[in-house]
Amino acid sequence: MTEKVILNTLDYPEPGTLANYERTGGYQALKKILAEKITSEAIITEVKASGLRGRGGAGFPTGLKWSFIPRHFKGVKYIVCNSDEGEPGTFKDRDILRYNPHSVIEGMLIAGYTLDAQTGYNYIHGEIWREYELFEQALDDARAAGLLGKNILGSDFSFELYAHHGFGAYICGEETALLESIEGKKGQPRFKPPFPASFGLYGRPTVINNTETFANIPYIVRNGGQKFLELGKPNNGGTKLFSVSGPVNKPGNYEVPLGLPFTELLQMAGGMREGRKLKAVIPGGSSVPLLPAEIMMQCTMDYDSLAKAGSMLGAGSVILIDDSVCMVRALERLSYFYFEESCGQCTPCREGAGWLYRVVQRIERGQGRPEDLDLLIDVSKNIGGRTICGLGDAAATPVQSFIQHFRSEFEHHIEHKRCVDGCH
Ligand SMILES: Cc1cc2nc3c(=O)[nH]c(=O)nc-3n(C[C@H](O)[C@H](O)[C@H](O)COP(=O)(O)O)c2cc1C
Repeated sequence: MTEKVILNTLDYPEPGTLANYERTGGYQALKKILAEKITSEAIITEVKASGLRGRGGAGFPTGLKWSFIPRHFKGVKYIVCNSDEGEPGTFKDRDILRYNPHSVIEGMLIAGYTLDAQTGYNYIHGEIWREYELFEQALDDARAAGLLGKNILGSDFSFELYAHHGFGAYICGEETALLESIEGKKGQPRFKPPFPASFGLYGRPTVINNTETFANIPYIVRNGGQKFLELGKPNNGGTKLFSVSGPVNKPGNYEVPLGLPFTELLQMAGGMREGRKLKAVIPGGSSVPLLPAEIMMQCTMDYDSLAKAGSMLGAGSVILIDDSVCMVRALERLSYFYFEESCGQCTPCREGAGWLYRVVQRIERGQGRPEDLDLLIDVSKNIGGRTICGLGDAAATPVQSFIQHFRSEFEHHIEHKRCVDGCH
């Protein structure tokens, strides 16, 4: 049985409580750094050694990100947690807030201590009120226990943390749109550079990390970076939560070591439902390239293996597609999402996402033209890399990978004006 870093509270009834978190070693890391007055440099060194990479999608090394913050800057700095989680297929951060909110609070406290920041915000997705309330409750409990607020545990370290509710727009998960949204403005991405490390919330140096990223920090500080690294594999340290959805017997979140073969993850999720055959997998959330089953079966679940296979680990949201699914219809659904969620700021994304959706839709409705596939590729290439944020690339990626791997299905739809036999 592999060690769990985040979902270990599930071994107890009422997993999200402070008492249960403390039973799993919770707040020991914070107590240790306060008692031993561990330096910021030492903490950043451990986080770097852990090989922890951002769990929000891009996989940027967390220790490196923290080292960009001007620690000796005399002024307000912020720690922001991204619990916006709005991409199709993603549902892990919701479970962390539900079953282990204190790991996020402790991770943010440690970040505050390390980067000399006194204020943090957790931006929680607009459609998950229960988890928002649970997080508020966890904040109250931590405050009552002297773990949050002024002079934490009698030390000279003070840190206040607030939950901030989003309103459900996918774009507000993009870090700079999220900061704009907290500031009370329209949630639209900023030009980068400057990056949040130098110009973040209210123009102040800001560290922004994903919920799961923060939740891993206490373990790293408590046990050392090397131990965390060894839970996974080199360059891919630690465990990872995979949200498995689709026609499997036991869909849900699985915390497993990075580097686990995909076939084992599929087995843990109970295998394919009776009579279903795996056709393709989107391994990291709807914005990463889809892979056919034959390729996916050879992969291990880590950043490097999936990149080598032509996709990405993303947020670890594993969407399985079986052979009854029409790929044209699946792409139509995904394209609609990106068309609907484009914030409208950049012309290629605003106009292009709509084009992609309408062309895929007409193929699906039996009105496709032979030149439509080249048109789709052309439009998608004119979006990718030409927008302020990654939503444009996210809209273009499914179109490219679906056509790359399942072109014949699209051609069949155009020629015969219907799905291939057995699909719907
Ligand atoms: C359109 C879009 C949506 C995003 N949504 C999320 C999200 O819901 N949660 C998240 O953590 N990161 C999201 N990201 C990535 C963030 O911009 C950022 O990279 C991340 O919060 C950094 O944290 P990490 O380094 O811990 O992964 C999104 C990016 C884009 C372009």
